[in-house]
Amino acid sequence: MKKRVFLVLLSLLLAQAARSAAPSTAELVSSRCGTCHGSEGVSTSPIFPSLAAQNREYLVKQLQEFKSKKRVSDTMAPQVADLTEESIAALASFFAAKPAKTNRVSDTDLLPVGRYIYTKGNSWSGVPACVSCHGEKAYGTTSLPRLAGQSSRYLLTQLKDFNQRTRTNDNEAMHLVASRLTEMEAKAVADYLSQLP
Ligand code: HEC
Ligand code: HEC
Repeated sequence: MKKRVFLVLLSLLLAQAARSAAPSTAELVSSRCGTCHGSEGVSTSPIFPSLAAQNREYLVKQLQEFKSKKRVSDTMAPQVADLTEESIAALASFFAAKPAKTNRVSDTDLLPVGRYIYTKGNSWSGVPACVSCHGEKAYGTTSLPRLAGQSSRYLLTQLKDFNQRTRTNDNEAMHLVASRLTEMEAKAVADYLSQLP
């Protein structure tokens, strides 16, 4: 009987230790995510996406899909492997609530082309207008990503990855779009989006 009480107490203690060992959102941001995505969600290098003001549900979906390896990424897989559903939800809320940043584009000549592609697409080659899904201000929707203020370099990489299907999750709609963009159109629309407020 005494032994059983002891075992129950021991398991309670162990469960508590496991809980307190799980890092908090603040700890995860400062010791892990912030290294690449910035402590305020503004990425530390243009190769990393900014997460500030990104839609919460979209962030949750991407984190779950990095974890399940539906979205294959050698960089992101180890970052999320040990995260619980609760940490994923808390991290998504944390970054979604941060203010977005806008970027300056050094060569502005392509911006009108980018704006045209975004709002009208290219009817000659069958590129649909991005605005029809990503919205008037490129803020996306609950399930679609915000593109306004994102790093141009990251956007361009994603367009290439959708085209080659190396972005492995839900690439149907974007594969069609990206496969019809010329390199110049892709660069133009990425630059245009990066400088939107
Ligand atoms: C070593 C750098 C690094 C660290 C640390 C890191 N990430 Fe990432 N993250 C990346 C890279 C690179 C990508 C782009 C992956 C790809 O598409 O190939 C990315 C993509 C993402 C995306 C998808 C964004 C989008 O717009 O689709 C989310 C969300 C994300 N990371 C959240 C996190 C969170 C939360 C943490 C901390 C638990 C974290 N990352 C830690 C480098 C990092
Ligand atoms: C038919 C709807 C649709 C159209 C039109 C569309 N997109 Fe998308 N786009 C999506 C969906 C859906 C996703 C997110 C997939 C996911 O959940 O992982 C996405 C994701 C993206 C991403 C990845 C963002 C990130 O944070 O990783 C980029 C970049 C993008 N779209 C750019 C564009 C551009 C540029 C155009 C116009 C040339 C465009 N899209 C047109 C549906 C669309």
